[in-house]
Amino acid sequence: MGQKYALVTGTDHGVGLALAEGLLERGYYVVAARLNPTETQIDELRDNNKERMFVVELDIGSDQSVAAMKEKVAQIVPHIDLLINNAGILGDMSKVLGDELDFDEMLRVINVNALGTLRVSNALADLVLAGEDKTIVNISSEAGSIADCWREGWFGYCMSKAANNMQSALVHNNVRKHGGKVMVLHPGHVATYMRGHLDTTANLTPKESATGILRVVLDTEFEDSERPAYVNYRGDKLPW
Ligand SMILES: NC(=O)c1ccc[n+]([C@@H]2O[C@H](COP(=O)([O-])OP(=O)(O)OC[C@H]3O[C@@H](n4cnc5c(N)ncnc54)[C@H](OP(=O)(O)O)[C@@H]3O)[C@@H](O)[C@H]2O)c1
Repeated sequence: MGQKYALVTGTDHGVGLALAEGLLERGYYVVAARLNPTETQIDELRDNNKERMFVVELDIGSDQSVAAMKEKVAQIVPHIDLLINNAGILGDMSKVLGDELDFDEMLRVINVNALGTLRVSNALADLVLAGEDKTIVNISSEAGSIADCWREGWFGYCMSKAANNMQSALVHNNVRKHGGKVMVLHPGHVATYMRGHLDTTANLTPKESATGILRVVLDTEFEDSERPAYVNYRGDKLPW
């Protein structure tokens, strides 16, 4: 088997950093896209894996940043077997109908979680289609399920993840024609800093979540389907 190449977004910390570590353990060459250069855990990982890792800066909310990332990545890797769109933001969780809703904030969340994911997949589509596995994994959330919606707030987050799920289905229809696929993954409730502080109510570490995600993506057979697999880190199906 030749060298496999993966690109992961949002690798400063949390699930993205753990996915980068897990992919290195599985022998992948990893391109780690990071937002914040003052977060150095990814640099330490690269320094320990110089032959099989490249760190690139990326703000998925910006057309220019995505284009600059693509240019750099195309000089480093011949193709991308596995693209993991992990980067995301949460936004307000407290406001419900009748409260003073911050629509500008919601637009920012949608621009990152939904449009940002598509921006990256679109920019890297030729590298993904040139790869052997042609797999795009979008880290979405159970919060994007319309069928299973129970919250009254989290408007920006839930709407952005539902839109992420829809763009996943559209991109799947594109890459499936070429033997590729999109998978939509809920990472579980993970102890990360997404809420601005360590979420101690979570029941999974980033490593546990990332190990599960990679097991589902790399070790589990999903039949070729008209829809992306929408599953959690254990491989259990979620309703759309
Ligand atoms: N934690 C959970 O329980 C949970 C549940 C369901 C789904 N998820 C999803 O899992 C994914 C990973 O989240 P996490 O829990 O690991 O949270 P996290 O630790 O906050 O990780 C998110 C990563 O995305 C980066 N990011 C934010 N905005 C970005 C942008 N515009 N461009 C590029 N990168 C950006 C963050 O960078 P900085 O932090 O350095 O700004 C961070 O590295 C997200 O898509 C999230 O929605 C998480």
